[in-house]
Amino acid sequence: MAIGIFGKNKGSSGAKTLDGVILPEHIGIIMDGNGRWAKKRGLPRKAGHRAGAKNFRTITKHCANIGIKYLTVYAFSTENWKRPESEVQALMELFKSYLEEAIRDFKDEDIVVRFIGDKTAFSPELQALIRENEECSKDRSGMVLNIAMNYGGRDEIVRAAKRIAQRAVDGEISLDDITEQAVSDNLYTAGQPDPDLIIRPSGEYRISNFLLWQSAYAEYVILDDVLWPDFSKEMLENCILEYARRNRRFGSV
Ligand code: FPP
Repeated sequence: MAIGIFGKNKGSSGAKTLDGVILPEHIGIIMDGNGRWAKKRGLPRKAGHRAGAKNFRTITKHCANIGIKYLTVYAFSTENWKRPESEVQALMELFKSYLEEAIRDFKDEDIVVRFIGDKTAFSPELQALIRENEECSKDRSGMVLNIAMNYGGRDEIVRAAKRIAQRAVDGEISLDDITEQAVSDNLYTAGQPDPDLIIRPSGEYRISNFLLWQSAYAEYVILDDVLWPDFSKEMLENCILEYARRNRRFGSV
């Protein structure tokens, strides 16, 4: 796994454009650093998440505008329930207000909204909004946006294993049918290409249980000194340029 580390300000040089660059088909983003962004300003953590949500919309639309086909954002992990109740509550409120607006907001951009993760843990109201967002955007033809909520890569793989095992127990498949493709077909992202590029601002060098199976050959770009609410369109384009410079060999020479 290659890790690209931008030092101070290098993520915003803006010297080149994306003209003629082969774009990643699928980008994953770990939207990290909201809490630190708020702390630096003497604000409560939920103010950081609000700023993060605003930036999420800006960056999502920019991805769609420049021609990215799939974008997966990590909004809430299976482990984030361990945060203080007040912070979890604030995030749930944010998801709700965001989802109420998202239906209109992403319509003009022609974005297909999907949710990956275990939705059953959310309130009935939030689950209804999730369904409504998926239902009303499913026939659009633009970028697919996967919002990972109550998502964990390990949990996703266990679920896939159980689904496959059940089919074997029921005699529908044999051991030889259990292939890498069969696992991929039983993930939340079934039918989608694996991520080519995964971006993590805020300088943490971790995967944090994000797209574990799918990221086997993803290129990572980690930005030091940039917290998610400050991650700009220009920085996104520089991450893509960094990705385009990589020599992807997929285990070959
Ligand atoms: C990680 O930063 C961020 C989160 C756990 C929440 C991400 C959520 C959003 C950006 C809200 C927008 C999403 C949608 C779909 C509306 P952190 O809190 O761990 O930051 P820290 O490491 O600085 O404490």
